[in-house]
Amino acid sequence: MENNFDEITERRNTNCFKWDLDGGDILPMWVADMDFKTAPAVIQALAERTSHGIFGYSLTPPAFYKAITGWWNKRHGLSISKDWIVPTPGILPALSATLTGLTSKDSKVVIQPPVYNHFFVTIEHGDCQLVENNLVYEEGQYHIDFEDLDKKLAAPEVKLFLLSNPHNPAGRVWTREELQRIGDISLKNKVIVLSDEIHSDLVYKEHSHIPFASLGEEYSLNSVTFGSPSKTFNLAGLQTAYLFTENEELRKTITEVLQKQEMTLLNVFGIEGLIAAYEKGETWLDELRTYLYDNYLYLKTFCSTFLPEAGISPLEGTYLVWINCNAFGIHSDALAGRLLQNEQLRISPGSIFGKPGDYFIRVNIACPRSLLQEGLERLARELRKAGPA
Ligand SMILES: Cc1ncc(COP(=O)(O)O)c(C=O)c1O
Repeated sequence: MENNFDEITERRNTNCFKWDLDGGDILPMWVADMDFKTAPAVIQALAERTSHGIFGYSLTPPAFYKAITGWWNKRHGLSISKDWIVPTPGILPALSATLTGLTSKDSKVVIQPPVYNHFFVTIEHGDCQLVENNLVYEEGQYHIDFEDLDKKLAAPEVKLFLLSNPHNPAGRVWTREELQRIGDISLKNKVIVLSDEIHSDLVYKEHSHIPFASLGEEYSLNSVTFGSPSKTFNLAGLQTAYLFTENEELRKTITEVLQKQEMTLLNVFGIEGLIAAYEKGETWLDELRTYLYDNYLYLKTFCSTFLPEAGISPLEGTYLVWINCNAFGIHSDALAGRLLQNEQLRISPGSIFGKPGDYFIRVNIACPRSLLQEGLERLARELRKAGPA
């Protein structure tokens, strides 16, 4: 490997959300950012931009759009036109503007818990009502209840279906067949699909990311896709993302909201970071994926030896491992509290991802292996105290 992902970079006292929120000796394995330096090409591009010394308002240049279209083409085989792309300062702001534009008061939005906790907040802030199409957990794996989805999308107030593709926190990379069924049910019920593909570049082994928009023109026209280099290249602090849709009317409506909310200008460094990452970051990313998957295998081996009762969900994508702690008989809120207090370890309690997550935890494994090992030892010590129920 050219890149050394074992290297520990001190992040404390850098205003780091993950490390400085608690401070002290807390080992953070929660919020979805990585303890790795980004790709060298990105660091170099940002250093060059810094040396210019002037950081006034920035245009979003043609190279920005070219980098995005090139990336989706080479990494995911999806051909998108630059005209479909709308830059945004993050996926959550983009989702929020989309909800504002495409719903009215009391519209309903369907999600699939356990799912990314901020979806709940964004829908609430958008004055919409939430409808849950819970994923089904069977033999340690998640799948979609399509019958229930059809029923839920049939309600006339349901305007949008918000999909996490790949799925945070279940770690699923949805197959073409699954996505096609979602697409067909949505088309039949005239519900627009919002496909959040922020984790699309972090998929492993035999799994490949299927962009929702790649299913065919009809599906593409009935959807909006949300993308970003922020998870892939650890650039969340640069606040740079985008959405794209082939549907001109949807694009126009969302763009108008973004304009009204004064959210059309991007961060100078975010623009440079995205271009460098997408143009020159592929080798780094492929090495990162190998390292992350090895971390997952390390976690699995560790748990099969020291925590055999813990149910490790297969990690098809993302760097967030979803662990079933039902056997220990302790609610995830209580477990998270005990881990923080007794072991100085912060993980995400499954409860924040919706009721089906109550007895699960989510562990972020995007860190040097020595930190992962330390975190797992702390986790095991506390869970062994709880013991199997
Ligand atoms: C599924 C999903 N969507 C969106 C976000 C947040 O995106 P942004 O930081 O661009 O708003 C995250 C962050 O963890 C996520 O997991």
